[in-house]
Amino acid sequence: MTHLELLKKFKKLKPSELGCFCISLCFIVCLFFLDYRSLSKGFRVRGHHGLGLWSGLSASSSSRRDLSGFLEMGHGENCNIFDGNWVWDESYPLYDSKDCLLLDDGFRCSENGRVDSFYTKWRWQPKDCNLPRFDAKTMLERLRNRRLAFVGDSIGRNQWESLLCLLSSAVTNASSIYEVNGRPITKHMGFLVFKFLDFNCTIEYYRAPYLVLQSRPPPGSPKQVRTTLKLDKMDWSAAKWKNADVIVFNSGHWWNIEKTTREGCYYQESGDVKMNMTIETAYKKSIETVLNFISKEVDTNKTQVVFRGFSPVHFRGGDWKSGGSCHLETLPDLSSSPASSGTMFFTNIFGSVLSEHKHGNESLELLNVTYMSSKRKDGHASLYYLGPKYGGPAPLRKQDCSHWCLPGVPDSWNELLYAVFLKREYSLAGNFTTPSLI
Ligand SMILES: *[C@@H]1O[C@H](CO)[C@@H](O)[C@H](O)[C@H]1NC(C)=O
Ligand SMILES: *[C@@H]1O[C@H](CO)[C@@H](O)[C@H](O)[C@H]1NC(C)=O
Ligand SMILES: *[C@@H]1O[C@H](CO)[C@@H](O)[C@H](O)[C@H]1NC(C)=O
Ligand SMILES: *[C@@H]1O[C@H](CO)[C@@H](O)[C@H](O)[C@H]1NC(C)=O
Ligand SMILES: *[C@@H]1O[C@H](CO)[C@@H](O)[C@H](O)[C@H]1NC(C)=O
Ligand SMILES: *[C@@H]1O[C@H](CO)[C@@H](O)[C@H](O)[C@H]1NC(C)=O
Ligand SMILES: *[C@@H]1O[C@H](CO)[C@@H](O)[C@H](O)[C@H]1NC(C)=O
Repeated sequence: MTHLELLKKFKKLKPSELGCFCISLCFIVCLFFLDYRSLSKGFRVRGHHGLGLWSGLSASSSSRRDLSGFLEMGHGENCNIFDGNWVWDESYPLYDSKDCLLLDDGFRCSENGRVDSFYTKWRWQPKDCNLPRFDAKTMLERLRNRRLAFVGDSIGRNQWESLLCLLSSAVTNASSIYEVNGRPITKHMGFLVFKFLDFNCTIEYYRAPYLVLQSRPPPGSPKQVRTTLKLDKMDWSAAKWKNADVIVFNSGHWWNIEKTTREGCYYQESGDVKMNMTIETAYKKSIETVLNFISKEVDTNKTQVVFRGFSPVHFRGGDWKSGGSCHLETLPDLSSSPASSGTMFFTNIFGSVLSEHKHGNESLELLNVTYMSSKRKDGHASLYYLGPKYGGPAPLRKQDCSHWCLPGVPDSWNELLYAVFLKREYSLAGNFTTPSLI
C-alpha cells in the first residue's frame, strides 16, 4: 500500500476511531522506546499483577528459567498448558506468510493490507511449565510414514493451514509438498490431502462442520425441513480419516440458529425429526456420537485423538451479519480475567460429555484453547481477508472476526498440539526425557 492510500484511509476514519488509533499508536511507540524489561521488574517487585502487560512483557523472548519443561515433566507431575499468558517475543512469528505457498488468501492479512504486525509477536506462556519450541524437522521426522488429519469447520482449516506453513518451513524443495489429487488450496467443500514427499507423511483436512452427518430429511417431514443433521451418524468422511495416526477435531461455529433451523436444517435421531430440540441438547448428542465412534472405530492404541476447543469470536457492536467489528484491535487483552460463559459454552459442553464418557482412559485429549484465544481480539482477519484480486480491504461492515490471520493465533494452538503430540510419543516410547529432541 502506498503512503497516499494510507493517508486516504486515515481520512476516512471517524474521530473516535482516529482517537483510538492514536492512543494505540502512542502506546506501541512507548513500548519500543522504554526499557520495558527493567520497568517490568520494578512493577513485579511491587506486585502489580493488574499490570498484565508489563508482567507479560517481562518474560521476554526466552521461556521462564524457573519453570520445568512440559516434556521433561514425568508421571505424576502436571502442568495445565492452557492456563497462562501471552508474552511478547521478538523471535516470533515462526514463519512469514509470503514464504508459505500453502495458504488461502483469506488468512494472508499482511499481504491483504493489514499494516500492524504486533499480533504476530505474541507467544503463549503456560503458568507452570515451558512449552517445547516448535521444531518442524522433529515433527516431520516423528510423522514419517504417518497421517495427521484435521476434521471440522473452517477454523479447523485455519489451524490446518497454519500447521502446513509451520512444517513446510523446514522443507527447502517446495515441489516436494503437494496436494495428492492436485487440487488447489482455495475454499471448497470436501477434503484436501497434502503430502510431504521426503517424509512420506500427509497433513489432511476434512470439512465436516458438524462432525455428524447432514443430509436429506426422511420422507414425510414437514415442509420447512430442507435438510437434517443425523445426530447419531458420523459425517460421510469418517471412513477416510478414521485410520489416521493423529486426528484433530473441532466444531461449534455451525451450531447456531442461523446456520440450522433458520436455513431449514433440523435435528434428527434415527428416523425422527426433532422439531424442538435445543442447540445445547443437539450439540451434546453430536459429541456423544463422535466419542462412541472413536471408541468403536478408531484404534486409539495407534491413533492420537485430539479435540480442539471452541475458537472464540470478537465481534464488537454487532455480529458478523450486522456490522460487528474488530479491525481497530492491535493488542491482546493481557488481563487474566476469565472468558465469559458464552465463550466457554461449547468447550464446556464438550468437557462434560467427555468426563461422563471417559472411564479412566486417556485416549482423547482436549486442546482447551478457548481461554487463551479469548484474549486475542487483535488476531482476527477483520478487513484483511480479501486477496489482491479484490482490490484491498473489505468494507467496514463486512468483517471477519472469527477466522485468524496467519501467522497468528492458530500457530500457538499448533505449538500446543506439538507439545501433546511429543508427550504421547515419549510416553509410548516408555520415557519422558529425550533432551536431544527438544
Ligand atoms: C507411506 O505412508 C503410508 C501411510 O501414510 C504407509 O501406509 C506406507 O506404507 C508408507 N510408505 C512407505 C514406503 O513406507
Ligand atoms: C524437488 O522435488 C521434486 C518432487 O519430488 C523432484 O522432482 C525434484 O527433483 C526435487 N528437486 C530437488 C532440487 O531436489
Ligand atoms: C414444539 O413446540 C411447539 C410450540 O412451542 C409445540 O406446539 C409443539 O407441540 C412442539 N412439538 C413437539 C414435537 O414437541
Ligand atoms: C474408555 O474405556 C471404556 C472401557 O474400556 C470404553 O467403554 C470406552 O468406550 C472408552 N472411551 C473412549 C472415549 O475411548
Ligand atoms: C491396545 O493395547 C492394549 C494394551 O497393550 C491391548 O490390551 C488392547 O487389546 C489393544 N487394543 C487394540 C484395539 O489393539
Ligand atoms: C478450559 O479452560 C478454561 C480456562 O482455563 C477453564 O475455565 C475450563 O473449565 C476448561 N474447560 C474444560 C472442559 O476443561
Ligand atoms: C528413551 O527410549 C528410547 C527408545 O525406547 C531409548 O532408546 C532411550 O535410551 C530412552 N531414553 C531415556 C533417557 O530413557
